[in-house]
Amino acid sequence: MRTIVFATGNAHKLAEVQAVLGDGFRLVTAAEAGITEDIPETCATLEGNASQKSHYLYDRTGMDCFADDTGLEVDALGGAPGVHSARYATDGHDFAANNRLLLRNMEGVGNRRARFRTVISLILGGEEHLFEGTVEGHIATFEAGCGGFGYDPLFIPEGYDVSFAEMSADAKNAVSHRGRAVRKLAEFLKER
Ligand code: IMP
Repeated sequence: MRTIVFATGNAHKLAEVQAVLGDGFRLVTAAEAGITEDIPETCATLEGNASQKSHYLYDRTGMDCFADDTGLEVDALGGAPGVHSARYATDGHDFAANNRLLLRNMEGVGNRRARFRTVISLILGGEEHLFEGTVEGHIATFEAGCGGFGYDPLFIPEGYDVSFAEMSADAKNAVSHRGRAVRKLAEFLKER
């Protein structure tokens, strides 16, 4: 079984990714690999941040590792909040404040097209590989549902008339940005 470090402290995310990767891989958190400080993410793009985080881990542990970064890109807002999705309204990860600000900025806006995009940077045997997953959709005019997290109550994926927050975790995973990126990562790792 191969051990891979995942640059997250989020146990929910770790379990979600472990389920897709299956039994052949043992995922450990950055803390379990001895990295207890916050991993810097100071780049201007999702690719840059994912890469910065995986290199940070690799440089300090020498272990195979990966990191992800996700953003919500709203066309009418020039791609915002994008790489700033976590800290759109405040410096903390205040999901409710982020959603309120997004609704305010979208007031009266006709073009509501948006997408979630996840980038994963994997460093395997010292070599970097990038994987991307996107889901197209639109921003609703009001929040609906209480599942999921973040912008889920406002995001309606293409082909659906309910928000991510109204879908089961499995149904969201089947079409979501992160689900798609992680399945690409899993396919790649299984071929190795
Ligand atoms: P992270 O890179 O996965 O930490 O995501 C950055 C930010 O994007 C989060 O703090 C959320 O605001 C938002 N986000 C990421 N994934 C999702 C999702 O699946 N649903 C809703 N919001 C998300």
